[in-house]
Amino acid sequence: MANEDLKLKVAKEALKYVKDGMVVGLGSGSTAALFIRELGNKIQEEDLTVFGIPTSFEAKMLAMQYEIPLVSLDEYDVDIAFDGADEVEEKTLFLIKGGGGCHTQEKIVDYNAKEFIVLVDESKLVKKLGEKFPIPVEVIPMSYRVVMKALTELGGEPVIRLGERKRGPVITDNGNMIIDVFMKNIDDPIELEKEINNIPGVVENGIFTKVDKVLVGTKKGTVSLN
Ligand code: 5RP
Repeated sequence: MANEDLKLKVAKEALKYVKDGMVVGLGSGSTAALFIRELGNKIQEEDLTVFGIPTSFEAKMLAMQYEIPLVSLDEYDVDIAFDGADEVEEKTLFLIKGGGGCHTQEKIVDYNAKEFIVLVDESKLVKKLGEKFPIPVEVIPMSYRVVMKALTELGGEPVIRLGERKRGPVITDNGNMIIDVFMKNIDDPIELEKEINNIPGVVENGIFTKVDKVLVGTKKGTVSLN
């Protein structure tokens, strides 16, 4: 079964956690996009009163396309948030996110949800965080060089994320740059998450250490980890 099919299975499974009247955090990326589509369909079919809070411009556009009424953190708390991940550490359920450069708004919404559920296919499971994927770090543009120096001192190999045509840096929804930090052997993700955020110029990094549940799409069915 292709990863895309597993992602769709997980997205459909996630709908079971959505109840009438909930405010739902809408994640970013291809798995979250499937969830947003399925949620929109469920809301129309069952005539539910459910509101969404998007974690990116992309999620906002999709929610509007699938007619999910949107609200904001200005006025509402998040009952439940669903989001994808680039890596999930099997033992701890800590994550690396931000492959799409949206991790800052994702973390704001996901960490503030009463329940945060991660949706992945089995290819995202790793023994140790950093095995396959760099840590995305969103930085204020004027600080990129000094932040890269500090990230190197922390033991990482920082690289500026470039746009598709490699003519300039990727710019986030918040108008900032992304530095991808390759770092194997991340022994203490909780401490590293704090240390990176402590560097002046860093807005937010893609290590997520506050996760309630991970739904994993496997060839044998969806498995729930918590
Ligand atoms: C975007 C993210 C995504 O959730 C993450 O990259 C996973 O994406 P996908 O579901 O397409 O594999 O963090 O910033």
